[in-house]
Amino acid sequence: MINTMYGKSILDLTELTKSEFLAIIELAVAVKKKPEDYKGALAGKILAMIFEKNSTRTRVSFEAGIIQLGGQAIVLDSKSTQMGRGEPIKDTAKVMSGYVDAIMIRTFSDQMVAELAKEATIPVINGLTDHHHPCQILADFQTIYEIKGKLEGIKLAYIGDGNNMAHSFLIGGSLVGMDISIAAPKGYEPKQEFIEIAQKNAEASGSKIEISNDPMQAVKEADVLITDVWASMGDEAEQAERAEVFKAFQVNNRLAVQAKQDYTFLHCLPAHRGEEVSADIIDGGHSAIYQEAENRLHAQKALMLKLMKE
Ligand code: CP
Ligand code: NVA
Repeated sequence: MINTMYGKSILDLTELTKSEFLAIIELAVAVKKKPEDYKGALAGKILAMIFEKNSTRTRVSFEAGIIQLGGQAIVLDSKSTQMGRGEPIKDTAKVMSGYVDAIMIRTFSDQMVAELAKEATIPVINGLTDHHHPCQILADFQTIYEIKGKLEGIKLAYIGDGNNMAHSFLIGGSLVGMDISIAAPKGYEPKQEFIEIAQKNAEASGSKIEISNDPMQAVKEADVLITDVWASMGDEAEQAERAEVFKAFQVNNRLAVQAKQDYTFLHCLPAHRGEEVSADIIDGGHSAIYQEAENRLHAQKALMLKLMKE
């Protein structure tokens, strides 16, 4: 079968068709089950990783993943490279394309990553930007698939900031036919352009998209309950102000009882217990956060196989 994803860049989830997205999840499950079958699959391949924001999971899971597939990683940050001294993105993209086989980047600007991908002749993977976090969604949907046995028809409720995670849930969920219900405080809703993409996807997949300011309503009968930090990387200066605004959006037992009895709680981590989620929920029996974090490894190995192996 022809791999339609070979050589592609993944900036957000709009680059993937539904069948490509599901093929990554399917491969992630297979890679997790029998990692030895994929041991040398990317032998000799090099992944460059650029970090302009902190990371634990993305940093370690990508590096471990490429090593497990037989390749190697080079970890960079903008400060120690010429990027930090203003070298044009175009030149960086062209030069790096001559050295390595793919670039994973975590940074602020989506526009910068888009330019990097446009100028590079190798795949560029978004490892988190201000507007998107596609790799996290792959791991989250793998986790949901493992626990619920399906993605289509699942109701996913996301409570909190209309941030990069919210945008990626909107795009990915609507693509595979999940109902996505987001409740955010007024003024912190997801960006309209990503809601519109999701609505368009939803017309094709038959899913429902709801955006509101009412967390109680949003979690009703949800299969999956998700939240994220109230102040993302880059928003730290607003931490105190946001803590006030988001108070009623904490995922706690009062809210969770509205969800289905067998609901699953997810959080991309790092989390702040007592802020966006109460400790009893994140550390309780419904929480699958460590399975979710582990799946970053398997999902990204699957993604690299699809993008980097003909
Ligand atoms: N969830 C996630 O991307 O974690 P890191 O910031 O640790 O990479
Ligand atoms: N929304 C968070 C996710 C961290 C993995 C942030 O951007 O900081």
